[in-house]
Amino acid sequence: MSKHIIPHSYQISKKDRLDANKHNSFLIWFTGLSGSGKSTIANVVEQKLFEQGIRTYTLDGDNIRKGINNDLTFSPEDRKENIRRIAEVSNLMIDSGSVVLAAFVSPYKKDRENIRTIVKDVNFVEVYINTSVEECERRDVKGLYKKARAGEIKNMTGISAPYEAPKTPDIEIKTEIESVEDSVKRIVDFITPKLSRK
Ligand code: ADX
Repeated sequence: MSKHIIPHSYQISKKDRLDANKHNSFLIWFTGLSGSGKSTIANVVEQKLFEQGIRTYTLDGDNIRKGINNDLTFSPEDRKENIRRIAEVSNLMIDSGSVVLAAFVSPYKKDRENIRTIVKDVNFVEVYINTSVEECERRDVKGLYKKARAGEIKNMTGISAPYEAPKTPDIEIKTEIESVEDSVKRIVDFITPKLSRK
């Protein structure tokens, strides 16, 4: 399909943008069950970075599944396509010079490996928000677990669809024993050296 697509060479490069921003760009990917705390933690990490003058943008279900991916369901094939498109969007945003935070359930190991391939290993930080399904169900912030138990939602991750936990994430947060503040600090400490242009 891309045989006859010949890239134009633009004068402003990624390096120019990173030099102007004075920081590197990459993707911080948050994976975990629905209600695990991905968005909560990503939100605070973004605030900390923004306060330091870092260019950031957060992708999550609200701005992706309601827009560009509003044609996709929660079947394994559609989740795969969901993650692929998000990875491609993230890749463009990395090229634009932003630190991208992405909070998605992303339950399949293969789909997460695909993100790493699309954005390249060096640009990918995987954060596993490890909250047990029991705890997510107890919190049930959106009332989805109750609906899943009642059979109103099919393919609910953790209930009627699998979640393949990352074995070697860059950072693992156990929200049942670690505060949001401590979790955020660990993430910010991990990515700070990656931001430096030196
Ligand atoms: S993913 O599996 O394709 O990565 P994504 O993160 O975009 O999922 O969307 C998950 C969000 O959609 C959940 O946080 C929850 O609010 C909602 N949701 C609705 N139906 C389901 C379902 N069957 N499984 C998981 N999440 C669901």
